[in-house]
Amino acid sequence: MKQVSIKAPGGLDNLVTSDVEDPKAPGAGEITIRIKASSLNFHDYMVAKNEGAAEDGRIPMADGAGTIEALGEGVEEFAEGDSVVSCFFPDWQSGDARPSDFKRTPGDGIDGYARERVTVPASWVTHAPKGWSHEEAATITTAGLTAWRALVVDGGIKAGDTVAVLGTGGVSIYALQLAKAMGATVIATSSSDEKLERVKELGADHVINYRSTPEWGKEMRNLTDGRGVDIVVEVGGPATLPQSITAGRTGAHLALIGVLTGAGGEIPTAHLMSRQQRLQGLIVGSRTHQKDFVRALDVLGVKPVIDSRYALDDLADAFRHQESGKHFGKICVTM
Ligand SMILES: NC(=O)c1ccc[n+]([C@@H]2O[C@H](COP(=O)([O-])OP(=O)(O)OC[C@H]3O[C@@H](n4cnc5c(N)ncnc54)[C@H](OP(=O)(O)O)[C@@H]3O)[C@@H](O)[C@H]2O)c1
Repeated sequence: MKQVSIKAPGGLDNLVTSDVEDPKAPGAGEITIRIKASSLNFHDYMVAKNEGAAEDGRIPMADGAGTIEALGEGVEEFAEGDSVVSCFFPDWQSGDARPSDFKRTPGDGIDGYARERVTVPASWVTHAPKGWSHEEAATITTAGLTAWRALVVDGGIKAGDTVAVLGTGGVSIYALQLAKAMGATVIATSSSDEKLERVKELGADHVINYRSTPEWGKEMRNLTDGRGVDIVVEVGGPATLPQSITAGRTGAHLALIGVLTGAGGEIPTAHLMSRQQRLQGLIVGSRTHQKDFVRALDVLGVKPVIDSRYALDDLADAFRHQESGKHFGKICVTM
């Protein structure tokens, strides 16, 4: 079977395709999956790009979707031929968040899904939503579940809420679609007027170009008649958080997700306090969150926006496309 791995010292020019033996037959509690698709996330890009520190031979990609080819003894949750999708934290089955590192995240601390077949414990995956293609299902693991947790698990979204989504990357577009499907008003931002037209087509009620309107937080207050938004899907980090605090209503939920503008910075803490807002960091979610999410997707009628598809051999080109920032929604890899 074919796989892509990172050759030390790492970097996009060191993603190597090779032919290797098929994985071992599934043991007790395990399944063998024919992986058909993965999808790119900023996190996968950082791992692949990690020149100088990459672990030699690491198979990248946290997201994996495919079909079960063989079941080990005692697996009752799945049947041969089922469509499944991987979990970002295979050891976090349910309950409180686990320690927040990536030592056991596929494609980072352990091998991921840039390969055609894998044998893993059945508890590392969930069913895919019914009727979804493998490319669509692959987008759930990281981007989809993060948006779901920000809005639903942590944010407690309800019909009538106003949600701010920043930029048009994988997490933000998912959040826009989920928020609309759940009856919220959505304000979306982008650096590109062309992309703003596309988010309008997806249902965004208001759009703001964050380049030409750097004080977009104030603009969001104006758009909500001075009240402010209920939930901000904060993928930017230090350079966007002050605007998100301005945009949020008193008591707003700010879901701190991303590091697109860096890992630290100056934050107007008094403003956050006086607005009595809740700032909550999160990293993806548990397998139970994913099961709930898949159940919701089976009825919500939302399908992810797929920007482009690349063959596994062309994974480096897929990352270069992501690096260009030209994408809108999810970039997928098929195998
Ligand atoms: N905590 C978690 O669990 C978790 C999970 C997934 C992702 N993340 C993080 O969330 C962020 C987004 O991830 P992703 O996979 O969705 O990335 P992505 O698909 O690569 O999205 C990149 C997009 O972000 C937008 N952007 C860049 N700078 C921005 C800024 N200053 N303000 C607003 N938008 C900006 C751009 O949109 P425009 O082109 O429209 O301007 C760009 O296209 C990353 O930092 C990633 O590490 C965290």
